[in-house]
Amino acid sequence: MSATPLKCCINPSILSADFVNLEAELARIANADAVHVDVMDNHFVSNLTIGLPVVERLQAVSPVPLDAHLMIAEVDRWAPAYADAGLASVTFHVEASNAPIKLARELRARGAKAGMALRPATPVEPYLDMLSELDMLLIMTVEPGFGGQSFLDVTLPKIRRARAAIEGSGVNVAIQVDGGITEETISRAAEAGANVFVAGSAVYGKASPEEAIENLRAKGQLAFGRN
Ligand code: DX5
Ligand code: ZN
Repeated sequence: MSATPLKCCINPSILSADFVNLEAELARIANADAVHVDVMDNHFVSNLTIGLPVVERLQAVSPVPLDAHLMIAEVDRWAPAYADAGLASVTFHVEASNAPIKLARELRARGAKAGMALRPATPVEPYLDMLSELDMLLIMTVEPGFGGQSFLDVTLPKIRRARAAIEGSGVNVAIQVDGGITEETISRAAEAGANVFVAGSAVYGKASPEEAIENLRAKGQLAFGRN
């Protein structure tokens, strides 16, 4: 029923990269579909990473599009500036937004794809009626805040229900998963219906990030089985 077939994408997270050499680290993942940029403010999550000035520089030098994941409080106030910076996609946490529909519309109006993220224990059901407002749903597969955590299998039923709702309503919404994605776990997430995979340690922790991306993509495509 869904119109355009969804592509299987591998978006490495620079959270696991060397922050002193970000431009060089971007060049190591030139075969990725996008680079996942984790913005944390020490309020919404208990970790602090980078903000808009650094993201703007990444946008200027990156060989691949930027996919921002904003783990920040008061996101209605701060997210639009990331879209104004020209990022391909901007994802906000629904738990941090007072007006997610308004925010998603603002992001799209400013030229970015609108993504909405759910923590592992946040149910998807209250948001199913607003799927048409989104380009991407990010289902966190670890508690947000840190790289290198283990994949939470308890999130798989939520991915399945979200994919069924997307297919049932005929909207074109990608499902991104983030946290603990490895060559072992990617198949389970893809079988459940995810098609965009964030991987930090499973890409940057390898001697050849490009090879790691190819291996993950092959496994993801096989298990997603819809394209
Ligand atoms: C966690 C971040 C993730 C993180 C994933 O809060 O949102 O993007 O970098 O790292 P891995 O793939 O190592 O779990
Ligand atoms: Zn992330």
